[in-house]
Amino acid sequence: ASILMVAGEGLPFIKTGGLADVIGSLPAALTQQGHEVKVVMPLYRKIAEKYMDELYFDCEFSVSIAYHEVPVRVYSKMEGDVCFFFIQHQGYFERDTLYGYDDDGERFAYFQKAVIEMLNQLNYWPNIIHCHDWHTGMIPCMVKETHDNDARYRSIRFVYTIHNLAYQGNFGPEMLDSCLGLPYYLLDNGNVRFDGGISFMKSGILYADKVTTVSPTYAQEILTPQYGEHLEAILNMRKYDLWGIVNGIDINLWNPKTDPEIPYHFDKVNIEKQKKQNKLALQKELGLKEDENVMLVGCVSRLTWQKGFYLMMEQLDALCAAPIQLVILGSGESQIENKFRDLENGNKGKICFYYGYNESLAHRIYAASDLFLMPSLFEPCGISQLCSMRYGTLPLVRETGGLKDTVNPYNEYDKSGNGFSFEHYDSNELMNTLYYAIDVYYNRKEDWKILQTNALNTDVSWANSAKTYSLLYDELMANS
Ligand code: ADP
Ligand code: GLC
Repeated sequence: ASILMVAGEGLPFIKTGGLADVIGSLPAALTQQGHEVKVVMPLYRKIAEKYMDELYFDCEFSVSIAYHEVPVRVYSKMEGDVCFFFIQHQGYFERDTLYGYDDDGERFAYFQKAVIEMLNQLNYWPNIIHCHDWHTGMIPCMVKETHDNDARYRSIRFVYTIHNLAYQGNFGPEMLDSCLGLPYYLLDNGNVRFDGGISFMKSGILYADKVTTVSPTYAQEILTPQYGEHLEAILNMRKYDLWGIVNGIDINLWNPKTDPEIPYHFDKVNIEKQKKQNKLALQKELGLKEDENVMLVGCVSRLTWQKGFYLMMEQLDALCAAPIQLVILGSGESQIENKFRDLENGNKGKICFYYGYNESLAHRIYAASDLFLMPSLFEPCGISQLCSMRYGTLPLVRETGGLKDTVNPYNEYDKSGNGFSFEHYDSNELMNTLYYAIDVYYNRKEDWKILQTNALNTDVSWANSAKTYSLLYDELMANS
C-alpha cells in the first residue's frame, strides 16, 4: 500500500521521546514489506537550522486559521527509501521546543489542515493515512466531515496510533469553527466533545478506520478506568478495531558492535570484558568512582510521574544504601529534578544526576550499565528497555503495558528471562526486586551471564511488528 505517516516528531530530524524512534524506524521496516511510505511533520527550528540547505521545495499555498489565510510551504527530503515532508511556518514552529505552548491547539490545527491540503497541491493520494498521537487526531474527522464529496479524499483509509493516552490535545470548543473549520453539530452530537471542549485524541479514536496502540497489554489496559484516561468508554466502542502492536527499534542505530557513541564495541562473545571497559569510561566521564565490579544502574528518561519516579523518591535512603552506583539522565518535572540533584550532592561518586537531554550520552549509559531502571506507573510500550536489552543491560520494570510484553522476568529454576519485574505500583516491591537483582549480580554470576545472553538474543527489531502492521493495512485495503 502507499502510506502517509503524520506525526509530531521523528528521527533522524527531531526527537523528544519514543514517538520519534518509531517514526524514524517503522517506515523503513514497512518499505521492506513492500509498502511505499512517506512521512510528514512540522519544520521545527532545530530541523530548519540543521537541514534547510538540503531540503527540496515542493509547493506553497494557504489554509484558513482564525479567519485568516495563513501561508504554508512544504519541503521534503529523502531518508533512505522514505520521503519526509516538512510543513513550514516560522511563527508556529520555529520555536525553542516542540510542544507545550498556549497556542498548541491552533498550531496543530494548522499543521493538520496543511497536511490535508498538501495532498491536493501535490496531487499525491496515498491509500492510507497513518496518524500518530493527538497532534494528528483531527485528520480523519476533518477529511471525512469536510471532504466527503471529493472521491480522491473519500478513498483514503485512516489508521490512528495511540502512543500515549495521557496527552490528549483537549481544547476549548471555539477551536472547532475558528481553526478546524468544522461544524458545531459535532459538539452537539458528541463526536468530538470532551469535558465541555473538544479532544483531538477522542476524534482520532472515533473517526479512524483502525485504531492501534503500541503493545497488546496497553491495548487491554486502556479499556479500563484505571488506564483509560476518561476515554475508556470511547475505546470500548472501538475495541474490535483496536490492535496492540509492540514497537521495535532501529537495530542499526542501536548496535553495540558498531555504535559510534560508545568507546568499546561488543557482542555476545566479549560482552563481559567490554562492558566493564565501557563502565570504567563512563564512570570517568561522569565523575563516579572508577570500579569495574560495582553494579551500575542506569536510567534514561523524561522525568515525569508516568515513569515511576515517585516510587524511587519514596526510597531514597534505601537507594543510597544499596551496593550500587546510579546514573540518571533526564529532565522534566522540577520536583523530580530537585530531588535527584540533592541526591547526587549527598552521594558524590556514587550517584550521578545528569540534567538534560543528551542522545550521545544515552548510548553510553545503555552500553555501560548492568541494570536499567524503568518502574513505570503506565507504559504504552517503552523504547528504553528495548535499547537496554540490545546492549545486554537487564531492564528492571513494572509489569505494565509494553514493559510486560517485552521483559520476561528472571526465573531462577529454568534460567529463563531477560530482566526483572514487579507487579504492583509499590515502592517496597520495587526495592525488593532491586535487591533481588543485586543478589543475582554479585552472588550468582553465572545466572547473570545467562540473563545477559537472553537479553542480547531478544528480538527487539521491527521484523515481526512490521508484518502485523502489514496485515492491518491489507485488511483495510480489502474493505475499501
Ligand atoms: P517516552 O516516549 O514515554 O519518553 P520511551 O521509552 O518510549 O519513552 O522512549 C524514550 C526515548 O527517548 C528512548 O529512545 C530514550 O533513550 C530517549 N530519551 C529519554 N530521555 C532522554 C534523555 N534525557 N536524553 C537522551 N535520550 C533520552
Ligand atoms: C510514548 C509512550 C512510550 C512509547 C512511545 C513510542 O511516548 O510513553 O511508552 O514507547 O510513545 O510508541
